[in-house]
Amino acid sequence: MVKAPLKRWVAVERFIVDHLVSHDAALDAAREANTGAGLPPIDVAPNEGKLLHLLALMVQARRILEIGTLGGYSTIWMARALPADGRLITLELLPRHAEIAQANLDRAGVSPRVEIRVGPALESLERLAAEGVEPFDLVFIDADKQNNAAYLKWALRFSRPGTVIVVDNVVRDGAIIDARDQDPGIQGSRRLFEALAAEPRLTATALQTVGSKGYDGFAIAVVTG
Ligand SMILES: C[S@@+](CC[C@H](N)C(=O)[O-])C[C@H]1O[C@@H](n2cnc3c(N)ncnc32)[C@H](O)[C@@H]1O
Repeated sequence: MVKAPLKRWVAVERFIVDHLVSHDAALDAAREANTGAGLPPIDVAPNEGKLLHLLALMVQARRILEIGTLGGYSTIWMARALPADGRLITLELLPRHAEIAQANLDRAGVSPRVEIRVGPALESLERLAAEGVEPFDLVFIDADKQNNAAYLKWALRFSRPGTVIVVDNVVRDGAIIDARDQDPGIQGSRRLFEALAAEPRLTATALQTVGSKGYDGFAIAVVTG
């Protein structure tokens, strides 16, 4: 990545955050706890967390599904948009990440609305289906990218017309356009784009993002049928 633009992107992100993302002790504490526990810094940026929060407000989400919890930073942002009787289920592979996330959620006061399910997301999703889970209003996919297309299928299965589906990290420094890139995550996100394009029940787009997380992007889809 070129150095000068990265510096500028980060400065602009700080400007955006300073103006539009109010300081929040619990969110700041979650980030600090994640860093302190040695979690990789792969949570969404603050302005992106706020975007997820706004999307949840826009669709008046009562039920949210997240695939990929890490330390619960994005979870807190989305849970804060829920009404008191709303529900967020977040799926995380690693017990240690889930443990740190739980402490962060407790501190943020959103635990009563959030359930963390630990294990491979594909298995957790099977279990949710067996339990006859109700449709979700918002689904945020942010786990192992090689399974993005499979997660999209599950998101559709757990959707209703109007459900919004967001997938993170779909640009990856532009590597997404390189069909020969053997990275399983890139291949997974390429399959995601193919699935989004082929799915008649969805209409979708993707946005490139820059900032403290580098050059990446989100795919956003809405279930239309
Ligand atoms: C990018 S991080 C999630 C960041 C989080 N959404 C945020 O913005 O704060 C991805 C998380 O997905 C988890 N993960 C990876 N593979 C998974 C799988 N197969 N099932 C469930 N979670 C998985 C990782 O352990 C990691 O905690």
